[in-house]
Amino acid sequence: MRTVILDKTEVYKGHLLLVNQEHPLREHNTYHPIRLVPVNLEQKDILLEATTATLLSQLLQSIGGNNEIIPISGYRTRQEQEKIFNDSLLENGSTFTKQYVALPDQSEHQTGLAIDLGKYSEEIDFLRPEFIYTGICGEFRKKAAKYGFVERYGKGKETITGISHEPWHFRYVGYPHAQIMQDNRLCLEEYIAYIKAYPYEGKHLHIKENTKDIEVFYVSADLDKMPIELPENDSYQVSGNNVDGFIITLWRW
Ligand code: DAL
Ligand code: ZN
Repeated sequence: MRTVILDKTEVYKGHLLLVNQEHPLREHNTYHPIRLVPVNLEQKDILLEATTATLLSQLLQSIGGNNEIIPISGYRTRQEQEKIFNDSLLENGSTFTKQYVALPDQSEHQTGLAIDLGKYSEEIDFLRPEFIYTGICGEFRKKAAKYGFVERYGKGKETITGISHEPWHFRYVGYPHAQIMQDNRLCLEEYIAYIKAYPYEGKHLHIKENTKDIEVFYVSADLDKMPIELPENDSYQVSGNNVDGFIITLWRW
C-alpha cells in the first residue's frame, strides 16, 4: 500500500466539483488555476479545461459530428458570467434569467468543465441553443457517458438543480461517473450525495468492466491533511466535490 495525503484545499479542485446556488465557487479556485485550451482549431475563443476539451473532441470525432454539432459557450470568467446574467435580465426579465442563467460564481461554466452545444443552423440562440434528442444529437447523447459527459440540467430535476431543463448544457465529470449517473438517473447533486454512502472506511462502489474493476469511494475532508492508503500499483484519480470531501476513483486491473 502507499499513503496518499489529501489536502483540504483540494476539495475545491477536480472534475467532480458540484457548483450551484448552494455551493458556489470559492476563492480557493484562484489557487488551483485550471489548464484551459481552445475547444477546436476554428473556435479559439471558446475554451475548456484540457481533459474536457480532449474528450469532447474525441466524442465528436467518434460520431462524425464536427460539422453538425457546434460548441456555443465553454469557459466563462466571473465577469463574463456577470455580464451574461445582467444582459439577460434586461433582455429577458428576471424569471427567464433565473431559470437559464446562473449567478456569477454559481455557474459551472466558470470551471471550464461545461459546454453548451448547438445543432448547426444559420442562427443559433446563445442562451438556449437547439440540441435535440434525435439524429446526430441523439448519437452524441448515446456515447456521451462513455466519454464522461452528462446532460447536467435534466427534465424533472429542476427543483434539485435550481435550473430549468437545458438539453444543450453538458458537463464533464469523467468516466465511470457519467455512466453511473446516467444508469441511475442521478443529477450531479444526487450523485455527490449517493457517493457518500460508499465511504473510505466502508464498502466501496464497484463497477465491473470485463476483467477490470473500477472502485469509487468518498473521503470526508475532516483534517487539513487527510492520509489514505491506496494499493501500490493501481492508478487513481482524486477529485474534490466543492462541498466537504473527495471522491476517489481506483482502476484495478
Ligand atoms: N446556463 C447555466 C445554468 C449557467 O449559466 O451556468
Ligand atoms: Zn451552459
